[in-house]
Amino acid sequence: MDKPILIGPFAQLLPMSKLPLKGSLKDDKLPIIENAGIVVSNGKVERIGTFKELNSRDLDVHRVEGSHVCLPGFIDAHTHICFGGTRARDYAMRNAGVSYLEIAKAGGGIWDTVTQTRKASQEELEAGIIRRSNTHLKNGITTLEVKSGYGLSVEEELKMLRAINKINQNASVDLIPTCLAAHMKPKDWVGEGNYLDEIINSLLPKLIEEGLTNRVDAFIEESAFSPMEIKPYFQKAKSLGMDITVHADQFTTGGSEVAIEFGALSADHLEASTEKEIELLAKSNVIAMALPGASIGLGCDFTPARKLLDAGGALAIASDHNPGSAPMGDLLTQASILGTFEKLSNTEVLAGITTRAAAALNLSDRGSIEHGMIADFVSFPTNNYQEITYHQGQLKPSNVWKAGKLIFE
Ligand code: NIG
Ligand code: FE
Repeated sequence: MDKPILIGPFAQLLPMSKLPLKGSLKDDKLPIIENAGIVVSNGKVERIGTFKELNSRDLDVHRVEGSHVCLPGFIDAHTHICFGGTRARDYAMRNAGVSYLEIAKAGGGIWDTVTQTRKASQEELEAGIIRRSNTHLKNGITTLEVKSGYGLSVEEELKMLRAINKINQNASVDLIPTCLAAHMKPKDWVGEGNYLDEIINSLLPKLIEEGLTNRVDAFIEESAFSPMEIKPYFQKAKSLGMDITVHADQFTTGGSEVAIEFGALSADHLEASTEKEIELLAKSNVIAMALPGASIGLGCDFTPARKLLDAGGALAIASDHNPGSAPMGDLLTQASILGTFEKLSNTEVLAGITTRAAAALNLSDRGSIEHGMIADFVSFPTNNYQEITYHQGQLKPSNVWKAGKLIFE
């Protein structure tokens, strides 16, 4: 047993606890502790309160100098940071007027990254994950979901998921791997039956056998899989006890209804969702995940976050960091910008990248700072939490703690 440590004082501590999972959130209901401290023991939160009341002789003290606001470590619940190559050419083509779907139909887009990712060795992919996850860490992210989906064959998807798992063994950030073998139909498929059958029969059972992931994702879209085509994949995943998440309603609708039908944890994108999908999502237990980085990267509409919240939905926000639609990969900047366009309160933005993002990953041990939670925190050099979104990502973290250990200062 480690001796408990008292960390603080913080000008403000935002525990993000006791907030409802669904619906709109007003800033006057945001719990704030002024001049606060956190007692950490064995990597978990023991107690929170004012620094003065917590300070006692049987604790070691990690004193924080200056004025800082402390929050739960951020959770980026949707990324594709395992890839080879670049898509700078796509970006220039889109800005010259060719659409994302047109580029995909002409053989570029995701398929271009598949070709470049297949050329990379597992070690090269690992180096990319380390580099990108370290940048996320400095931006306050302590848990990062990472999808496969640029392999599109059993072996190449396994290579990606093995790379993610390997790095997770020693990474400072917790990586949550997700199988996105249903990202699109591989253009070079040869074999009996169809590609998805092979994924269903060979890849999914192997993922469980090797313990590589218990999560699956699919891209339901004109350029990828139709709602009908994808059902056997989700049925198989469900029968294996896997969690489901969906790339839904990005350009055309249909995906979010499949997400609801299969009891997915989240439906992500939703830029094209209409009143009908918004209502259905709000009534369901599926978390709506906005990906403002994709809207910024593609120059498209934002997810109707305000409407989803006002209808009673749960809104998480993620970066979608990927080489194609969302190369920026800066969660706080993007979440803050989504807030300005969609008129979100600070509490809604911050819950979207903490508690509500944890729920989207089915993780009950993080997302808030309260007794028993993993001691993942981020602090910002200010005495007023409103400064964090106000600077739209330019106010950078002063410190990041992972499981109670200071890993960035
Ligand atoms: O979430 N929409 C599909 N998949 C990714 C983009 C992947 C890519 O363009 O490489 C997304 O935006
Ligand atoms: Fe994505």
